[in-house]
Amino acid sequence: MLHAMTGTTRFPAFSIQGRAGASFKHTHLDTILAGSDEVGFFEVHAENYMGAGGPPHAALERIRRDYPVLLHGVCMSIGGPQALDKRHLARFAELVRRYEPAIVSEHLAWSTHDDVFYNDLLPLPYTSATLADVCDHIDEVQTTIGCRLLLENPSTYVVFEASDYSETDFIREIARRTGCGLLLDVNNVFVSATNHGFSALEYLSDFPLDKVGEVHLAGHREQSDDEGEPLLIDSHDGPVCDAVWKLFDMVIARAGPIPTLVEWDGDIPEWPVLKAEAEAAQAILDCHVRLGVETEIHHAAAE
Ligand SMILES: [Fe+2]
Repeated sequence: MLHAMTGTTRFPAFSIQGRAGASFKHTHLDTILAGSDEVGFFEVHAENYMGAGGPPHAALERIRRDYPVLLHGVCMSIGGPQALDKRHLARFAELVRRYEPAIVSEHLAWSTHDDVFYNDLLPLPYTSATLADVCDHIDEVQTTIGCRLLLENPSTYVVFEASDYSETDFIREIARRTGCGLLLDVNNVFVSATNHGFSALEYLSDFPLDKVGEVHLAGHREQSDDEGEPLLIDSHDGPVCDAVWKLFDMVIARAGPIPTLVEWDGDIPEWPVLKAEAEAAQAILDCHVRLGVETEIHHAAAE
């Protein structure tokens, strides 16, 4: 399991093993602080804290005193062909140093081209050339931030004929070459499987679960494409759907109680709604811990 950041000790040490957490939204801060042990941890998007100070850092500093914080990048463009933005990477590394996050993660995607910055996480073809680029970028990130990065599987809306690797083989090879860990977003798997007509179960059975240090769950929107086929959008603006809960349950049954985040980034609800989603994830994690203990007792008794 990924270690907590070490070095300075401005913040108390927490364990996130087997815990469920939630996206941290500043509008929830007072309500969260009025309770106790609301969830296991909070995750933030690094890009929201790239200024030196002000209200964003005041809120994050406050929540960090009581809860573990996970840092999730969305703009590193690790999957792009061009060199990483050194200034962005330096700011990212400064956040890692400042907040000592329990986990640091980014996406298998790209979002910049020359001087143009896109709002979307765009997909890449899975070839030997892109594999080399991605691995170089992850090496650079891990060297700069001084700890292991978790790489998140994408949600996609197009596939490339040029791809030589399946997505799971591509991700497995990245982890092998760089030593990075993986962030398995179960909703992303469901969205991509629906959009491209493949089996989410088969994808998950081929995913290197032994490398997964964190799971993401989120809501999505249902639309139709030009031919009337279902098109799912990874919108993070609603509750986790039943099918994703079932896939999550199956993943945890196989992989054990991996720290799990419920992401919610649009149409932000009142804190109790988001907290209830995290509690539902925690109940599944706890259930599999109990089942694991019972199985061990059963095996011990049989020997
Ligand atoms: Fe995610």
